[in-house]
Amino acid sequence: MIKFERNKELDSAMKNLMYSMVEVNEYLTAILNYTEKVLTPQKEKELIEILKKYNVPHDCLKYDLEILIGNPYFRDIKLENVDSQTVWYEKATIKKRTLMSMNFHQPMEKYLFHHHPIGYFEADVDLPVLKEGSDKVWMSPAISEIASMGEGIEKGHGKCMTMGLGIGVLPYLWLLKEEVESVTVVEFNKDVIDLFEKYIRPQFKTDKKLEIIHGNAFDYYNEEFLNRFDYVYVDFWESSGDGLKFYTRLMEKKVDVRHIDYWIEDSILYDVKYIVVPYLYNIYQEKSVTDFISSIDEESKELVMKTNRYFKKRNDIIATEDELLDIIHGKAVLREILAQ
Ligand SMILES: C[S@@+](CC[C@H](N)C(=O)[O-])C[C@H]1O[C@@H](n2cnc3c(N)ncnc32)[C@H](O)[C@@H]1O
Repeated sequence: MIKFERNKELDSAMKNLMYSMVEVNEYLTAILNYTEKVLTPQKEKELIEILKKYNVPHDCLKYDLEILIGNPYFRDIKLENVDSQTVWYEKATIKKRTLMSMNFHQPMEKYLFHHHPIGYFEADVDLPVLKEGSDKVWMSPAISEIASMGEGIEKGHGKCMTMGLGIGVLPYLWLLKEEVESVTVVEFNKDVIDLFEKYIRPQFKTDKKLEIIHGNAFDYYNEEFLNRFDYVYVDFWESSGDGLKFYTRLMEKKVDVRHIDYWIEDSILYDVKYIVVPYLYNIYQEKSVTDFISSIDEESKELVMKTNRYFKKRNDIIATEDELLDIIHGKAVLREILAQ
């Protein structure tokens, strides 16, 4: 079992980690009154005070419309004609100065405090939205969606592969890059593929090879298949909520490839950190692990059991804050916990 030296440095690191989790919640609650609402100049002043209080960047709330309308997907691909039995088009107007989430999770400082960039446009923006069923938003090229794929778009080169077609934003932005040779997509929903083939692919301004494989990502997540490509980006979940479940199943496969990234991995791993930190704090305080595990709600039981299995196997002694933070923020450690 992992052990800790009891010293002042670790005392304060543990407390700061625990406190940063509380602080995030306080911050998120404080800004809840402002998000998805029109930000009057008075409200903006109040919001900036909150951002300042938590040291969240506050001088970049106003976004240039160009980041949306200048995006090649937004510019080239029109979704107005989409009309299938299950999915149809609607235009959503985002009123000027409406405060929106502009990206997923951004880590801040060395503990667990983080923020989701928020901002507004100075003019009304029409956003194409594909809806499904009674009124569910199915997919939309929203800023936060495009921004959160930034790393994947950037790193794409040679033969690229992605799991999850959606409306083909990532495949299109990859194909437009000179250094990308071809794109392969694994998508399990036939309706998504049909809709893409009928309405979206014909608008792609590129002759490069785009292959869509109708199949389940889990069946293709193996070294032999993944090694056929130069870069892989996995994006078949809707948010960090369902993402953790799917990402865990992928980690359990213990596939060893380095040229792969996962959509909103940082957000997903924060949910893991939220269990790992209290778990380690409990050990640090020399309290009963069994009691700790029992105190965790059903939803996170599997995760806490995995955490326990992983740390039981370690027999090192942690003595400094850096060693502790290497565990908390180490992607390899967190992935290994999920692989247990
Ligand atoms: C968020 S969208 C992907 C967005 C895409 N990156 C884009 O640029 O438009 C997720 C897609 O994953 C698909 N999907 C969900 N589970 C899957 C699975 N197990 N295997 C393959 N595709 C899956 C969904 O049908 C959906 O089309």
